[in-house]
Amino acid sequence: MRFTQLNEIELPAAFDAHVHLRDGEMSQLVTPTIRQGGVNQVYVMPNLVPPVTTVQQCLAYRDQLKAIEPNVDYLMSLYLHESITSEAIREAKKAGIMGVKSYPAGVTTNSSSGVIDYETFYPVFAEMEKQNMVLNLHGEVPSTPSHTHATKDATAITILNAEPAFLPTLKALHEKFPALRIILEHCSTAAALEAVRACGPAVAGTITAHHLSLIIDDWAGDPFCFCKPVAKTPEDRDALLNAVVTSKGRFFLGTDSAPHDQGKKRGEDKVAAGVFTQPNAVAYVLDALEKGVERGVVEEGDVTLEGLEGFFGGWGRAFYQVGDGRGEKVVLRKGAGRVVDVLEKDGLGVRVVPFRRGEETWSVEWK
Ligand code: DOR
Ligand code: ZN
Repeated sequence: MRFTQLNEIELPAAFDAHVHLRDGEMSQLVTPTIRQGGVNQVYVMPNLVPPVTTVQQCLAYRDQLKAIEPNVDYLMSLYLHESITSEAIREAKKAGIMGVKSYPAGVTTNSSSGVIDYETFYPVFAEMEKQNMVLNLHGEVPSTPSHTHATKDATAITILNAEPAFLPTLKALHEKFPALRIILEHCSTAAALEAVRACGPAVAGTITAHHLSLIIDDWAGDPFCFCKPVAKTPEDRDALLNAVVTSKGRFFLGTDSAPHDQGKKRGEDKVAAGVFTQPNAVAYVLDALEKGVERGVVEEGDVTLEGLEGFFGGWGRAFYQVGDGRGEKVVLRKGAGRVVDVLEKDGLGVRVVPFRRGEETWSVEWK
């Protein structure tokens, strides 16, 4: 296959291993866009307000999502929180909950009740390892408040070095719990990719669609490209593109599609972090790979059908040890789709501006 010559490509429906579907009106708006993006199975993040910290809450949340869009499989997660005990982990496993998401306190949207010290959770991680559950890491260290910056010696943490500064924690957790399945979510730097590769097969990474095309300059002036972790350098972006096509199972799609009402992006207060990609999830990745080949940073021969099938679904499903129960296929057509200017629906009071609004992209047809 010569990837850039293709106008049409058939793929198994995708598994998106990192989505934010929210609740209330926002979930009514965004959940129906999962299939539009070519996806039929998702791993749902638990950072609602309040966060999803109990099995009961989690199952009720899954039922809400199923009621909105029944033709999607929802893999569910709990939010790592001081109230989570080993007992809760055993209960979660029995209830079919797949994993636990950890947010360092304060790093991103709805993370204020997150983790301050990982060691206090070692008994929980030990139980997760025993129960064969997945630990999803938001891999950033919180920024140093500017008024406490040291004058010399100590490197302050900013949103640019927050992910590299977290990588020793990944290594320590993997060394302490070598059989615990861990995902470093939304890898955004070449250093993060290396750290994942340096671990054993229990550790994988997700890569978003938007980090495959964005760099620092894109979000610096545009709130709709601002997310956590922030997009980094062109070299980091190109390393991510190459990780997609040479992944061999170590990396797979997790879009981190994160809808916010446009008011929260357009200056009511602090700009909310999150890029919304759900309705065009697979298409954005294909566009970014094509640009990578055109720029000469991705070898065209590295973009294979097996590689795309793995990145979009097979490898994520294998890591989560789930099948694709639906066995559906999608056909994508180059240039036949268009990103909407704004996602809205009659009767709903929220509006979301998607990534690359108004631009041409691949269309998705379900077979
Ligand atoms: O940009 C982000 N938005 N990063 C996250 O980790 C959370 C997400 C959200 O929930 O909006
Ligand atoms: Zn996320």
